[in-house]
Amino acid sequence: MKQKQVYMDHGATTPVREEVLEAILPFFREQYGNPSSLHAQGREVRHAVDQAREVTAKALGAGPDEIFFTSGGTESNNLALRGSAKKRGSAGHIITSSIEHHAVYDVCRDLEKEGHKVTYLPVDRYGLVNPNEVEAAITPDTFIISIMAANNEVGTLQPVDQIGAIAKKHNILFHTDAVQVVGQLPLDLSKLDVDFLSLSAHKFNGPKGIGAIYKRKGVRIDPLYRGGGQERKLRPGTENVPGIIGLSRALELSVNEIPEKKKLLEGLRDQLIQGLLKIEDVVLNGHPELRLPGNVNVSFKYIEGESVLLSLDLQGIAASSGSACSSGSLEPSHVLSAIGLDHQTSHGSIRFSLGRGNTEEDVEYVLKNIPPIVDKLRRISPLRKPG
Ligand SMILES: Cc1ncc(COP(=O)(O)O)c(C=O)c1O
Repeated sequence: MKQKQVYMDHGATTPVREEVLEAILPFFREQYGNPSSLHAQGREVRHAVDQAREVTAKALGAGPDEIFFTSGGTESNNLALRGSAKKRGSAGHIITSSIEHHAVYDVCRDLEKEGHKVTYLPVDRYGLVNPNEVEAAITPDTFIISIMAANNEVGTLQPVDQIGAIAKKHNILFHTDAVQVVGQLPLDLSKLDVDFLSLSAHKFNGPKGIGAIYKRKGVRIDPLYRGGGQERKLRPGTENVPGIIGLSRALELSVNEIPEKKKLLEGLRDQLIQGLLKIEDVVLNGHPELRLPGNVNVSFKYIEGESVLLSLDLQGIAASSGSACSSGSLEPSHVLSAIGLDHQTSHGSIRFSLGRGNTEEDVEYVLKNIPPIVDKLRRISPLRKPG
């Protein structure tokens, strides 16, 4: 009998859904024209890209002229931060948090080397940024605040509405990395004080290597590349047409499904959390309520998260380690350190991220498999509980 497969790593990436694949395929086969070409094939594809931009904008409560397609979340984050720093021209001050994704965090580190000052705000033990601390950190040189909408590791949702209002009050740009939120939770940019928002299609059942940045109308930044005049000169380079079509279709579908999907995933998430917390010496990381619908991050004390992962993998369960950073170094994740976890607890962390297609049966399968794995690993662990 084939082993059951349970995919609970939707925070890393998601499968492309069938409707999206169907929408994309013609743009590899028949509609291969370059949208900048003046002939009929080109014009047809230009029309499709324009339509995709409109669909994308509508799904976010934005205008089509506020959407720029990029290669993904990483590029969108780089563009917001570096593009506004470049436009400013002189060294300034940036406010961000200590739990941002590397695509913001490392860019800020680079900008520091280029002469900018950066404040990395601490978070509380649930991973929350305090808006009052954002306001208190503002200096006359602050030109941009970048705080993620939801954390990719522990799932904590940030008060971006309040932070945006503070930024607006002080006439400072506000960027939010919403890669983990778009397509998962309702978002209406017409009601938020946000100047830039990053999103990535592969997190909502779209293709990889395509994303977008929302840039509020009237906000000016410099492009990072020079080339053709594509994306109104902000992001030159021949458009990834199949990707753009796929992004817009995936976004449209996932945004329409948010109410039911959110309810379903929150139910599964809470069922999984409750089951995991029944195991001795397991702690939940992130906020108990203000968290992504599909995010579960727990630490299994006295064992290594990687060992749990490998054992789960043998049972057909895909999750991810909460501690190892992408380089595979032994340093615990900066996010888990920022919420106050000690090294040992941090190394015992696992993230399960639920998504479209997960069922109650999947949760039960995980909950059935975990206790013997944890038991076995604890018996051979050198980190055994004292006493
Ligand atoms: C919060 C966050 N920001 C940015 C990214 C990077 O997005 P992409 O993979 O599209 O470059 C990710 C992906 O893991 C993410 O979770």
